[in-house]
Amino acid sequence: MKLYANETRAIGRRDPMIYGHFLEHFHRQVYDGIFCPGSPLADEDGFRTDVIEAMKKIKVPIMRWPGGCFVSSYHWKDGVGENREPTFDISWRVEDPNTFGTDEFVKFCRKVGCEPYICTNAGTGDAEEMSDWVQYCNLKDEGRFAKWRIANGCEEPHAVKYWSIGNENWGEHEIGAKSSEEWGRLVLESAKMMLRADPTIELSAAALTDLDWNINILRMARTRLKWLSIHEYWDFHQGINQLTDYNQTMAYTLDLESGIRRVRGLLMAMGLEKKIRIAFDEWNLRGWYHPNSHTMIPGVTKEDYIDPRDKNDINSQYTMADAIFSACFLNACLRNCDIVGMANFSPIVNTRGCIFTHPDGIVLRSTYHIFDLYVNYLGDTVLDAWAEETPKMNVTHRQGRNFDVDAVDLVVTSWSDKPGIAVAAVNKEAEKEHTITLNFDYDGREVRVYTVAGESTESYNDIDREEVRVEEGEVMAYTKGMEITLSPHSANVIQIL
Ligand code: AHR
Repeated sequence: MKLYANETRAIGRRDPMIYGHFLEHFHRQVYDGIFCPGSPLADEDGFRTDVIEAMKKIKVPIMRWPGGCFVSSYHWKDGVGENREPTFDISWRVEDPNTFGTDEFVKFCRKVGCEPYICTNAGTGDAEEMSDWVQYCNLKDEGRFAKWRIANGCEEPHAVKYWSIGNENWGEHEIGAKSSEEWGRLVLESAKMMLRADPTIELSAAALTDLDWNINILRMARTRLKWLSIHEYWDFHQGINQLTDYNQTMAYTLDLESGIRRVRGLLMAMGLEKKIRIAFDEWNLRGWYHPNSHTMIPGVTKEDYIDPRDKNDINSQYTMADAIFSACFLNACLRNCDIVGMANFSPIVNTRGCIFTHPDGIVLRSTYHIFDLYVNYLGDTVLDAWAEETPKMNVTHRQGRNFDVDAVDLVVTSWSDKPGIAVAAVNKEAEKEHTITLNFDYDGREVRVYTVAGESTESYNDIDREEVRVEEGEVMAYTKGMEITLSPHSANVIQIL
């Protein structure tokens, strides 16, 4: 296939926050995940230093916390100060010790070098509790909440810039779910009180790719929002942990931009596409496995709904299917970087995350290496590009439908601070290689190819097993019209410098 780019026409500069992440109080993400007081691998604050180093390597730009469903019954005041009592988390039906709260979260983010992004409780909480949280974090010393933060040992404001009002309050599964009309009003009142505490913060609100739900938010709070928050998990597993195989997974790549297009269309219809951006602040190929969490089937015991959560932590489940899908999703965000300003892999640690922790270290799962590839080798400016003769591959959706998808997914980027081009080229084929012909006017430059491929579609990383990593190819001299071969099931960045 032939690849072209108009190097004088950029779609936009991608916000680094499209490589963001999410951390929830669920299973082993916080406790026994990033926060392991007493572990020989933890620092003086109880944070896993190996996890911090791994996050720094992929330049995590922003971290969303504390939920997710957890937040819709979480009261932040339980998690700050000296005398913290354990509370029962009615979302995930476990006790939360509250030893990791706002101050610990912000401190962790500062150590990683990422922005904290706090999602507030719009389930059982209210506008005042959200505003109090902003006061606690961001006021210098005015009022009792800022003074409380100082008394807790944090003299300087936390300066939390990004805040989300609620999480999936549209859903019956969510504690304190709202109707569309209720939601518009709550978002407006919460935004008013949060912005009066700190008018410099950027607010998001839990949204959908659904017109009715979003129209009400935008009608009521359009002047107060900078973001609309949407979520998607393609391979859903809340009740059954039966993951799609490689070919079925590639079926999900048929149209990864459909949700983005719907939200973009509504924002354009309301004249807001330059004022409000999309925060895709939960995404992952794999939905989380937590059977019987939201169901209240009589006779279901703790063993039926707590113990099965360990099945999220089986590293062999996260193969090149997850890696190739994730590369295609990031390509979709890059192609829409004029309106998608943030995306958060859900989650970052344990569960379906890209980093797995165990008592003696960490495992960097296949998806981690996709973030390494995109963050460290791709450009920051997305160019207008097109391809001729894009090959197709036949896939079968897990529901049985059979159809073709593009076998290769390409994005062309440049750097705003240096010459050169970097092409993100994904070959989705399980067994077949493809070649792309480069038609850029860059004679005499060097070509470097960085690849994440593994040995097979089933390759994965585990304790004492590393099959998937970023591999660097031989340096080549660039000539216009040269061909680059993309190996099967591979995500590549081709740099022409
Ligand atoms: O399965 C995890 C949940 O998925 C998150 O807590 C929620 O935000 C989403 O529905």
